[in-house]
Amino acid sequence: MMATEVKSPNGHVVLSFTVENGRPTYSLTYKGREVVHPSHLGLELAKDKHASKGLEETDLMDGFTLLKDEVKEVDETWQPVWGENRNIRNHYVEYLAILPQVEYFRTMLIRFRVYDDGIGFRYEFPQQKNLIYFLIKEERSEFRMTGDHTAWWLPGDYDTQEQETQETRLSEIRSRMKEAVNWGNSSVAVFSPTGVQTSLQMKSQDGLYINIHEAACADYATMHLELVDQQTKALTTQLGGGSNAYTPNPKPSPYPLPQPFTFVSHLTPDATGLKGAMQTPCETPWRTVMVSDDARDMLSSNLILNLNEPCALDDTSWIHPTKYCGVWWEMIVGKSSWNYTDEFPSIKLDNIEWQKVKPNGRHAANNEKVKRYIDFAAKNGLDQVLVEGWNVGWEDWANMWKRDVFDFVTPYPDFDIKMLNDYAHSKGVKLLMHHETSSSTQNYERHMEAAFNLMNEYGYDAVKTGYVGDIIPRGDHHYSQSMNNHYLYVVKEAAKHHIMVNAHEATRPTGLCRTYPNLVGNESARGTEYEAFGGSRPDHTCILPFTRLQGGPMDYTPGIFVTKLSEWSDNPSWARITIAGSLALYLTMYSPLQMAADLPENYEKFDDAFQFIREVACDWDESIYLEAEPADYITVARKAKGTDNWFIGGKCDENGHKTTVKLDFLDKGRKYDCTIYADAKDAHYEKNPQAYTITKKVVKAGDVLKLTEAPGGGFAVSLIAK
Ligand code: NOJ
Ligand code: CA
Repeated sequence: MMATEVKSPNGHVVLSFTVENGRPTYSLTYKGREVVHPSHLGLELAKDKHASKGLEETDLMDGFTLLKDEVKEVDETWQPVWGENRNIRNHYVEYLAILPQVEYFRTMLIRFRVYDDGIGFRYEFPQQKNLIYFLIKEERSEFRMTGDHTAWWLPGDYDTQEQETQETRLSEIRSRMKEAVNWGNSSVAVFSPTGVQTSLQMKSQDGLYINIHEAACADYATMHLELVDQQTKALTTQLGGGSNAYTPNPKPSPYPLPQPFTFVSHLTPDATGLKGAMQTPCETPWRTVMVSDDARDMLSSNLILNLNEPCALDDTSWIHPTKYCGVWWEMIVGKSSWNYTDEFPSIKLDNIEWQKVKPNGRHAANNEKVKRYIDFAAKNGLDQVLVEGWNVGWEDWANMWKRDVFDFVTPYPDFDIKMLNDYAHSKGVKLLMHHETSSSTQNYERHMEAAFNLMNEYGYDAVKTGYVGDIIPRGDHHYSQSMNNHYLYVVKEAAKHHIMVNAHEATRPTGLCRTYPNLVGNESARGTEYEAFGGSRPDHTCILPFTRLQGGPMDYTPGIFVTKLSEWSDNPSWARITIAGSLALYLTMYSPLQMAADLPENYEKFDDAFQFIREVACDWDESIYLEAEPADYITVARKAKGTDNWFIGGKCDENGHKTTVKLDFLDKGRKYDCTIYADAKDAHYEKNPQAYTITKKVVKAGDVLKLTEAPGGGFAVSLIAK
């Protein structure tokens, strides 16, 4: 059969689709260069003890014919509630293949959307007599790469994304895997010696940037990618065991193994090993392949947001970008504690008279300290103060398989919830709620309504949730279909209470924040906390925008000014960044939720540099990526929403970077007060992180700024229209 070709609006991206020996097959080119070689699409189904006619367990892999196809072009523009740009253009050519599996009298559809910067495709299952309920054993979407690309990858893992990124050729993933999985986290489940996570950023040897991820992952398991290399004998289909362990699949797939350099989708199983329980009509998330010969396009692409459904909330007036500080870093660093007492070997929530227990003297979330943070926020124009450790249960909160770990409504005796909220509100500040669930998800769902009511009662409008440790009930994984349903349930319930959600350790984002814009942030990657756990590489923040941030904003918690933690604690760890580099992150790591994570007293020591954090916006009318290279540098200019002010940030890796910024995006004929926060000549992320310069001048459109970023450093510029 001849392949059908579908061109993107400007013709740069071309999708070819055909049915090859009964198997749906696609390939992709960019400006005439091969990006994805012919790759098969399909799903293997699992046996279902309830299947009456046996039809539901027949795979959706082969025996297809192309009955009919439809092509249409769509060009529309929409406005996000918050974002990098006021307007987002959604312009694509859609190709829908209607694929009967004639022998079984059933039909599957594959819908492609072809954009100028890549494609998305998904499987759709209309309601039909012979496909009502089915269970997914594995999705087999293939992405056959054209060569031994450089890849920035995380080990495939059903529970965490908090590893350092590895940078290797595809052929080196297998040999690097042992080293990559040799790290510490309280919930780890690696499944294959060549399994990697998405978003996966690659660069071909001839300079094409290729990114594979997914969009709109709802009621479905998170997708990983398993690379077929020269040594692959069979694809992995089962989790081999516990932490950091993997065993090859005991029952190989009956379908032929794809060629080396092919990535094959690998879904996250639930506690029973099942990868999906489906009821028609339904569809899978979109699988995305972004491609360009310019790395900046990877960062400015809106492909993933565009593939998500429009906003599902009628009223979004209560959703707002937020800058916050918090009673947080000192606990992460180990100087103070979340828990109130050290008196008991373990606690049961109902059995303790909290007024009578002996305080440990290290409890951070106390009235006096929280007031100090509220004062600091009020003085510096920060909107909210996060307080962790305010509620009872922290004495034995993690990794105990303890179900009833928190009730999310009872404060410790030294945290006066009414007084502190009143005090905050009197100063124009809000408290930011914290719900660490310890991954005891049923417990959280049971208490959630009461917890949200408590928030409404005291005037909280944002919650940071957390999912530390293995999922309870045991056996399930952070990225399974059931857990993905849990996270979305929380976001939807929160919306009913007008509460914004920032979920840590939750599933990896896939752009659902377009549909539910009260999902203002996620962690779901290695955040600043790791600077207190041994540190992250200086190039880490030059990779995340290419990978983790593709699916939505990250609560990275930037802003560490006193990078050597031993200056104020017993923690020998240190942050691998300069102060100017820390300021740059407020631009390069886009998020509508930005933390000033360091201690108030540390900011007070560098008040002139802190001015940038006071001033920087976190919602934008326009964003222009000026230069970018994965793991090397990123420079971006952004226009603050509803103003004529611009902010520019540049962040680089351990090698330093020189850049020339041409201010040709400013309004012609207008003058701007320009403040440049730069690394000093001798600044260095390890040897001299606090050396910065602040220069002020007046600039106009067309002027040029020459900037030097120190190793592990960066710069930040504010341009306030006169
Ligand atoms: C891990 C989160 O990422 C961190 O921010 C939080 O403080 C701890 N869990 C405790 O909930
Ligand atoms: Ca975390």
